[in-house]
Amino acid sequence: MLNNAHAAAEAEFFALQSRGAAFLGTKYAIMGGAMSWVSERHLVAAISNAGGFGVIACGAMPPDLLEQEIAATQALTEKPFGVNLITMHPKLDELVQVCLRGKVGHIVLAGGIPPGPAVRAVKDGGAKLIAFAPALVLAKRLEKSGADALIIEGSEAGGHIGPVSLTVLAQEILPHIEKIPVFVAGGLGRGEAILGYLEMGAAGAQLGTRFAASTESIAHENFKNAFIRANARDALPSIQLDERFPVIPVRGLVNQGTKRFLKHQAETLIKFQAGELDKTQAQLAIEHFWAGALRRAVIDGDVVSGSVMAGQSVGMVTRVQPVAEIIAELQAQAVAALLAREQTRAHAQNPL
Ligand SMILES: Cc1cc2nc3c(=O)[nH]c(=O)nc-3n(C[C@H](O)[C@H](O)[C@H](O)COP(=O)(O)O)c2cc1C
Repeated sequence: MLNNAHAAAEAEFFALQSRGAAFLGTKYAIMGGAMSWVSERHLVAAISNAGGFGVIACGAMPPDLLEQEIAATQALTEKPFGVNLITMHPKLDELVQVCLRGKVGHIVLAGGIPPGPAVRAVKDGGAKLIAFAPALVLAKRLEKSGADALIIEGSEAGGHIGPVSLTVLAQEILPHIEKIPVFVAGGLGRGEAILGYLEMGAAGAQLGTRFAASTESIAHENFKNAFIRANARDALPSIQLDERFPVIPVRGLVNQGTKRFLKHQAETLIKFQAGELDKTQAQLAIEHFWAGALRRAVIDGDVVSGSVMAGQSVGMVTRVQPVAEIIAELQAQAVAALLAREQTRAHAQNPL
């Protein structure tokens, strides 16, 4: 009886994921969010081999390196995976061609509304285009302009963030986008939460932080240990000191680097006010502060002054786990929630 109920709950969870999984070509509708320096061949292949959908973070990579990374990932998995390209990359068009030549089936365009030529190149090349929608109007526009799927990423996420939480974005966007699948991201650490969003109409979920601390992630031990130690409240957005000098909000663990960034902004402002730097120079000085800082944290393990990008879900990272175990855990939590609901319903119908 219990086994039947468990099988039914599992089937229900798979049914809820079916649209997203069919779109990705995977068992689970779970994407590993691209993370610069972290989402390389090993993690991407591990996620895809575990039934999820790994995504290579191209970041600032030149085309030849991306080509190598795609080939190296294909050597580690026969399963589908995607590539995330940043739209500001000066060689975006070439990078798209590298993905197409490498037979990458899904290209994620991040970092702003994707430019028309890149959208057309992806579609003409036969790949599926996934774009980020930070608001309903943009989601509708992207749906019209040919995006095959959307990601809505709440401000709970790690890395570069928008101002709105996933709770609100999901309510604003999910009921109104029906033609293409929508994946939710930001702050997801447990299966019950993923289940909730699937029931609201999401096609699947994207997680970053939990996978960054996985066994297969090449992130430095210090980086993973910082994740294990941290609570949700330690993962804060970067602070902008003066509105004349915008700072793109990035969520990461507070450390000496984030504190020094405030001091650096204050010192730069003083130099600007004293006429030692013009506006452009001051803005560049502020932007330059974090150059190379994510690499320092992820690869070199400098979690004291480096950029330890992490989502609020970091509080749910309690140990280093293999990717397959993380995915199985998410699945088990969602299935347990469905089972518990069924038992409550059965009890309500038949209290004795
Ligand atoms: C260390 C780190 C680096 C990231 N780098 C990128 C990136 O290069 N491009 C991108 O689109 N998103 C990036 N993200 C966001 C993730 O792809 C994902 O959407 C996010 O982590 C989801 O929220 P979560 O961390 O709460 O799971 C990064 C996130 C982290 C934690």
